[in-house]
Amino acid sequence: MSYNNLLLEMHGKVALVTLNRPQALNALSPELTAELSELLDHLEADDSVAALVLTGNEKAFAAGADIKVMKDWSYMDVYKADFITATWERLSTFRKPSIAAVAGYALGGGCELAMMCDFIIAADSAKFGQPEITIGTIPGAGGTQRLTRFIGKAKAMDMVLTGRMMDAQEAERCGLVSRLVPADQLIDEALKAAERIGELSAPVIMMAKESVNRAFETTLAEGIRFERRLFHSTFATEDQKEGMNAFFEKRKPVFKNR
Ligand code: HXC
Repeated sequence: MSYNNLLLEMHGKVALVTLNRPQALNALSPELTAELSELLDHLEADDSVAALVLTGNEKAFAAGADIKVMKDWSYMDVYKADFITATWERLSTFRKPSIAAVAGYALGGGCELAMMCDFIIAADSAKFGQPEITIGTIPGAGGTQRLTRFIGKAKAMDMVLTGRMMDAQEAERCGLVSRLVPADQLIDEALKAAERIGELSAPVIMMAKESVNRAFETTLAEGIRFERRLFHSTFATEDQKEGMNAFFEKRKPVFKNR
């Protein structure tokens, strides 16, 4: 597999995918998002891959959708192509754990892409924003919806209506980011978190992820029922037996992913 706009490195069972259009601050061109979607299909199908870390470079995770490509599109162009659904949204349906490791700008579609990951680890240099309003449009890949669910209406309105950027400290305080680390430790920290997840039971991790995501899609009562059914399902796995037996035998569990 070789891509024009992405780099793939395997670290054990963790796929480190780097957005790689540094000359345009990793602006998310249709070619880049199509490549990412295709790569995610491969990573999801490959049993040797346990988790994904998605990153950019020191200056930018991604500065948004590619404005140069978009600027002359007509209403019919974007409507007929249903810009942006399939390729961008692929990340939000990726079933394995995904971590965004963000340094520098995560703006517009870049912030939206980071929010499609399961959680965001940010370098102290990270800057988040939904500046679409400043170029005459609005977020189009879930920004108004995910940001509002993650940080609440007041801050989401502030970000979306003014287009201002939020620094990494503010993003951590308001819950957009799960961990904040010095820039030179970003990739190590994200890989360590992903490697830890990769040591655990893959099917149970998928259930945990599905259950947390359900919190955004349903009522509390339905979500709790959904969680209970998946909790029950873990008892059908060999890994639950291994995990609980290992606890009493005072040893590290060895999960078989069954
Ligand atoms: C295309 C971009 C780009 C973008 C930067 N570049 N962002 N190209 N699309 N989104 C290009 C610049 O044109 C420039 O190319 C090079 O990257 C470096 O950028 P500079 O602006 O010179 O860098 P700097 O002065 O450091 O400013 C950084 C910045 C600024 C503050 C991040 O680049 C910026 O405001 N970018 C746009 C951010 C934005 O509006 N994003 C939302 C896009 S809309 P040259 O050739 O001149 O060197 C969106 C909608 C998503 O995301 C909806 C779903 C599809």
